[in-house]
Amino acid sequence: MKLVSLMCLLGLLLFGCASSPADTNRHSGEVSETRDEHSYANINEIRTEHLHLDLEIDFDEKRVSGVARHQMSKSDADTAVFDVKGLQIDKITIGKSNEKETDFVIGEADEILGSPLFVKITPGTEFINIYYQTTKETEAIDWLPAELTASKIHPYMYTQGQAILTRSWIPIQDTPMNRITYSADVKVPSDLLAIMSANNPKEKSSTGEYHFEMKQRIPAYLIAIAVGDIVYNSLGDNCGVYSEPAYADDCAFEFTDMPKMIEAAENLYGEYRWEQFDIVILPYSFPFGGMENPRLTFANPTLIAGDQSLVTVIAHELAHSWSGNLVTNSTWDDFWLNEGFTVYFENRIMEELYGKETADILAVIERQELDTALEEMENDGHSEDTHLKLHLHDRSPDDGMTDIAYNKGAYFLRTLEHVAGREKFDTFLRNYFDSHAFETISTEEFVNYLDSELLEPNSIDFNVEEWIYQPGLPNNCVNITSSRLNRMIKMAEDVNNGKDIFMGSDGDLKRSDFITQEWQAFIRGLSTDISIETMIKIDEKLHFSDQANRQLKVEWYQLAVRVGNKSVRPEMKEHLVLVGRRWYIERIYQALKDSDDPDDLVWAKQVYDEAKNNYHFVSKSTIEEILYN
Ligand code: BES
Ligand code: ZN
Repeated sequence: MKLVSLMCLLGLLLFGCASSPADTNRHSGEVSETRDEHSYANINEIRTEHLHLDLEIDFDEKRVSGVARHQMSKSDADTAVFDVKGLQIDKITIGKSNEKETDFVIGEADEILGSPLFVKITPGTEFINIYYQTTKETEAIDWLPAELTASKIHPYMYTQGQAILTRSWIPIQDTPMNRITYSADVKVPSDLLAIMSANNPKEKSSTGEYHFEMKQRIPAYLIAIAVGDIVYNSLGDNCGVYSEPAYADDCAFEFTDMPKMIEAAENLYGEYRWEQFDIVILPYSFPFGGMENPRLTFANPTLIAGDQSLVTVIAHELAHSWSGNLVTNSTWDDFWLNEGFTVYFENRIMEELYGKETADILAVIERQELDTALEEMENDGHSEDTHLKLHLHDRSPDDGMTDIAYNKGAYFLRTLEHVAGREKFDTFLRNYFDSHAFETISTEEFVNYLDSELLEPNSIDFNVEEWIYQPGLPNNCVNITSSRLNRMIKMAEDVNNGKDIFMGSDGDLKRSDFITQEWQAFIRGLSTDISIETMIKIDEKLHFSDQANRQLKVEWYQLAVRVGNKSVRPEMKEHLVLVGRRWYIERIYQALKDSDDPDDLVWAKQVYDEAKNNYHFVSKSTIEEILYN
């Protein structure tokens, strides 16, 4: 492109696009204040309706390249603005069968948001084709060499889109306020299988070519792909597990209850609208326990605990098929609408399958986490971060991924349920999902809906404003208790008071006597004043550091650091080097950083140097923030 025309275009575009997008509000007559601060897209002028991806996945070059073909809404706009970050844009054309090259400008890059991509169009332009490739700066994609997979034979790649990483592997209007359908033609090495958040193949094709369709409208953050040596195991009529062959049998056992979970969820809040519910167990580097990509939840192998004790994550991701994927937060400031509802719904699924006692145990653990988060945020002088409705302007949406959105959000809904009664509350929620299906919703719109559909008709006086817009936890928060957890806390107190819990009637205490979450409460109840010898003795009997599932290891290692028990370092290092799931490593790195013993931070940095290539960008940036800031 000639420099002169580029400058003209830039001038024109900067004038034309100075304002941020406003809501294309679905309720006529209402003017919505909602703006997505985390996207440059001008969706109120012109927006993508359908995206077709023509892509090639090159493992040697670690590059995705091809064309993003955007089919746009009817508009008089002369510019379309997309979000891009770390992408190389090769050329852009407009038109379908007869493509013509058009001018474009990539605006200044913001460290968090990336850049606006301004594309010159003519009024009425329907197709915009962006020819591009990913680069080493692409944040969404994890490229794994064969050594980091279970088989150690084939390489693997996967993407993570939420919250604003999709723009680093697809040039797109990357805001949850816009929903699109998508299709894709993807070419991969012929010995690998490609799967997406769309309809999926059940086995490899001989050519390495795959076609995908996602016919339901979804926000950009839910577009995802995984490519590797992957096999499929059906677990029911409409569900199953993709994994590397080595995990296939273990997965089939661990996730046996998936069909029952789907049935329970449908009974609670209405039809499952995505036809198929599969999960894919990715390599250990996947930065989350689970990610609710529609039709294909992405999950971490740490879920395979061997005893089905961590399937809450599956219930959680399934629940997102309603809260989050069907009814989506408008902006990342409204993230609690995705996660708070999902934690609430997840707990209801768990109650249906495993009973109220189990569900209460989970809720009490969540309350502990919430109390800790509230205390930390208050102490750090960040009480504004304890509001459900956030203000993440100029901050990364990742900053909102805290226990507030998840657990304060869930406790808000539990308190509403308590006040309104379960029957009324369930009817309300079911109608909420039905009436907002395939739409996005802001906190303010939700508050209006809550008032008009639940509170006013039932004359309920409720401190909604305090719950959503004020710091801390309101006094009327329901108090959930669990006698089983109280017993574990009592046992921990006995240890703290010097009692030998392996003597007397408890002499043959074994780990299998209690479920994961009970032991979690036990470990959390132990004082950091207990001796190293006590820890070692407990560990000899109960094997938290070497044999327990990783949820317990995470608790145990944090305590070990706080107690100054370095004997667990070999196992702790094995964990930190293997696992990239952020919540399973950041707490340990944080404990090492906070330790009074300066050697802990030195050791943490050494381990991190060895481990970092095994982590996805998301985990790397969090851990670097902890260790180096
Ligand atoms: N959607 C989240 C993961 C996420 C949130 C990714 C924000 C990027 C930005 C997912 O549903 C989630 O919450 N996963 C949890 C599961 C847990 C709460 C049961 C996880 O990974 O641990
Ligand atoms: Zn979630």
